[in-house]
Amino acid sequence: MERDIMEVLLSEEQIKARIDELGKELSAEYAGKDPVVVGVLKGVVVFYADMIRRITVPCQTDFMWISSYEGSNSTGNMVVKRDISCDIKGRHVLILEDIYDTGNSLDFTYRHLLSKEPASLKICTLLDKPSRRKPGITLQPDYVGFEVPNAFVVGYGLDFNEHYRNLPYVGILKPEAYN
Ligand code: IMP
Ligand code: MG
Repeated sequence: MERDIMEVLLSEEQIKARIDELGKELSAEYAGKDPVVVGVLKGVVVFYADMIRRITVPCQTDFMWISSYEGSNSTGNMVVKRDISCDIKGRHVLILEDIYDTGNSLDFTYRHLLSKEPASLKICTLLDKPSRRKPGITLQPDYVGFEVPNAFVVGYGLDFNEHYRNLPYVGILKPEAYN
């Protein structure tokens, strides 16, 4: 697994330090608001587990699972495979995501949750790859862990063919590992 990684982009220590910072910001933002923290499966699971433990104010947890019709990433034809299980009407909602790439997934998730009439809806993404954004997608994440270059990254929850999610850091995959 390790030998398929070209470069460690974000070490465990860097990720932990950034999550500590985000935890302070989110705890201040959501004090007294009892937000619903919605994780977008599956890439978010590792970040989600670490992030909510740095939110020091009461919050409610939920998840949704979306995918594209074709089964591939970033086609723009998204469907809800598993919706959140609570009513968010009038609630403060925070979306947690692994990566904001072309923007299709988050744009879809955001509009889906917005239609349920939350009191507020914000986005926290661990990674942002702004160079890949699809024209026409103007949604800006409210909280970003790290901006990353235009390379395919794995680890810390991010996968290639459902592998590498268990790497404790974020690394760039060697092109030969795609084949
Ligand atoms: P989108 O292109 O912003 O819709 O991102 C779609 C999904 O593709 C993300 O939520 C990730 O799960 C996945 N994805 C995008 N870029 C990468 C990457 O560099 N590595 C692994 N997964 C990625
Ligand atoms: Mg994802």
